[in-house]
Amino acid sequence: MPQNSRGYGVTEESLTLRRPDDWHVHLRDGAMMAAVLPYTARQFARAIIMPNLVPPVTTIAAAKAYRDRILKALPAGSDFEPLMTCYLTDHIDPDEVGRGAREKVFRAAKLYPSHATTNSAHGVSDIAKIEKVLERMADEGLPLLVHGEVTDPSVDIFDREAVFIERVLAPLMRRIPELRIVFEHATTKDAVQFITDAGPNIAATITPHHLVINRNALFQGGLRPHMYCLPVAKREAHRLALRQAATSGKPKFFLGTDTAPHPTKDKESDCGCAGIFAAPAALETYARVFEEDGALDKLEAFASLNGPAFYRLPANEGRITLRRAPTKVPALVNVGEIGVQPFLAGETIGWQIA
Ligand code: NCD
Ligand code: ZN
Repeated sequence: MPQNSRGYGVTEESLTLRRPDDWHVHLRDGAMMAAVLPYTARQFARAIIMPNLVPPVTTIAAAKAYRDRILKALPAGSDFEPLMTCYLTDHIDPDEVGRGAREKVFRAAKLYPSHATTNSAHGVSDIAKIEKVLERMADEGLPLLVHGEVTDPSVDIFDREAVFIERVLAPLMRRIPELRIVFEHATTKDAVQFITDAGPNIAATITPHHLVINRNALFQGGLRPHMYCLPVAKREAHRLALRQAATSGKPKFFLGTDTAPHPTKDKESDCGCAGIFAAPAALETYARVFEEDGALDKLEAFASLNGPAFYRLPANEGRITLRRAPTKVPALVNVGEIGVQPFLAGETIGWQIA
C-alpha cells in the first residue's frame, strides 16, 4: 500500500496509520482495570491515565504504584505505556508536582473543579488556591489538563463549559501565559472557537461520543443513562463544530476518548454516574466519523501526531491497520458478576482493527 512519509496510507479495503495514543483515559483499578485495560492497550500505544481514583493520585509514590499495577494488569505481549498524571487539590505541594515532572513520573496534572464530576470531591475549590503550583508547572513545562466546567449551581448545566472559559480559563491564560493547557473533552463550539483563536499553549481533546451524539441521545424514547457523561452532550450545532475541529487536521485538536467505565447498576440508578465507556470501539468510531466527513486523510494527525507534538513526545514508530469489515461492539463487558456497557453497545461499525 502506498504510504506517505508520515505513515498514512489508504486503499479501498484498509487504512494504515501511525499507532495512535489516547490522551484521556479512566482505567480505574483492581478488577475493573483488568477488564477494561485490554480495550485501550489493543489500539493505543500510550495513554494519559486520569488520576481520579479513590483516594486520588496526588503523590509521586501513588502515581508510580498505580503505574506498576497497570503494567502488571496488561495482557501478555501488549506494547502499551501509561502516562501518569497528578490530581490537583487545594493543598497540593508545588515541590511534589515539580519533582514529579522532573522525574517524568507526572506527564501532566489534572484540574477538577471540586464536585464537577465523578470522584472530584477532592478537586480544587478555587483556582486562586493553586496559583503557586500552576506557576511551577509553567516553569517545568508540565501541561495542565482541565475539566472545563464551572460548578456554580446557578449556571445551567449546558452552559457550564462556556462559562468556565470566560470566568476561569481566559483569566488564567492572561495571568500565566506560559502555562501549557489541554482543554479536556471539549463539547461546545465556544471551546472550539476559543482554542482556535488562542495562542499555541492551549489544545483540546475530543471524545468519540461527543462527535456522534448530541443531547437528544440522552432522551431518545426514554432516559438513556449510558449516554450520560460530563461535560454532558450539547446541541447539534456544537457537535458539528467539534466534528469540524477534529477533522480539520489542525494541531490543536487531538484524540482523547474519556473512556469512563461504571458498573451498569451505577449508571441505571436513581442518581446515575457520569461517564461513557468509549474504549471498546474508540478508533473504529473515530474512523467512521472521519470517513463520513470525507476526512480520512486527517485521522492520522488527530489520532497519532497532534497529541505527541503538544506533549513534546515523539510520534509512535509502529503502525495500526483498520480494515473495512464489520465490527460488532460488545453488548456488555463483564467484570466478575458486574456488567459495564460500552458506547454503541451491540452496534456494528464498518471498520475493524487488523
Ligand atoms: C469521568 C469519570 O467517570 O471518571 N466521567 C465523565 O463523565 N467523563 C470523569 C470526567 O472525566 O469528568
Ligand atoms: Zn475524564
